[in-house]
Amino acid sequence: MSQPILQTDNLTIRFGGVIAVNKVSVHIKQGQIFGLIGPNGAGKTTFFNLLSGIYKPTDGRIFFKGQDITSLKTHEFTPLGISRTFQNIRLLKGHSVVDNLLLATHHRLHYTFISAFFNLKKFRDNEMNAKKIVIDLLEKYDMEGFQDHIASELPQGLQRKVEIIRALATGAEVIFLDEPAAGLNPSETVELMKLIRQLKNEKKTVILIEHDMKLVKGICDEIAVLHFGQLLDQGSYEKVTANPNVVQAYLGRRYEDAQNQ
Ligand SMILES: Nc1ncnc2c1ncn2[C@@H]1O[C@H](COP(=O)(O)OP(=O)(O)OP(=O)(O)O)[C@@H](O)[C@H]1O
Ligand SMILES: [Mg+2]
Repeated sequence: MSQPILQTDNLTIRFGGVIAVNKVSVHIKQGQIFGLIGPNGAGKTTFFNLLSGIYKPTDGRIFFKGQDITSLKTHEFTPLGISRTFQNIRLLKGHSVVDNLLLATHHRLHYTFISAFFNLKKFRDNEMNAKKIVIDLLEKYDMEGFQDHIASELPQGLQRKVEIIRALATGAEVIFLDEPAAGLNPSETVELMKLIRQLKNEKKTVILIEHDMKLVKGICDEIAVLHFGQLLDQGSYEKVTANPNVVQAYLGRRYEDAQNQ
């Protein structure tokens, strides 16, 4: 078995009396589309916040390619190649698609404040490199006509896409998507699934929280189920959905609906 790209060992976080993530140990293989499911309030977003360095765990460890990254600072996660999108779309209001994406490239550029201030050649070269990275990404993901559009005025499906491209613009190889299909119509959801499959073809590792079981069934290689902060099961869609505890805690109607699609 290949080494996991990400692994957690008894990962735990408490907020006062609430144990939002409780001794969760999972392993996520490189190049997988990994689904995280569970009822509202199960701890899914909190788990993402831990794995992307936004929260520090109360207990337990996180490993990235075998390296213990538990104590790294939040800004040290992005250079490792870990990036995320948020449950609610967070684009800069009033700014163009290009501007939204350029911001994400900044940690990849190497210039000092002084050179930026004097607009030295290195700074200008870096700005041009950044613009090229962004324009190339827009072309690659069929959004070349949209570079000057105001990002927050695009249809939901395209806003999601800009967010995902922004995560890619950081140079990420692991991408966390928190309910990417929320608020999308059926054809936008199909487009999103295509995009996520494309990322897999490009050898990215995608970890997604999703309530739409049809989408989960359609694209996830492996699934983990959280319930009250605890891991109920991890494995293939077939394995996990056959687990009576998972059916009772979460799936119910959702599972039947997905089976009948
Ligand atoms: N910063 C915080 N401070 C206090 N409690 C928090 C904080 N963040 C999350 N929680 C609590 O942790 C628990 C898990 O929340 P979380 O948002 O991770 O759930 P979720 O599985 O993402 O739910 P949903 O499907 O509704 O998005 C909830 O009880 C929530 O109130
Ligand atoms: Mg959530």
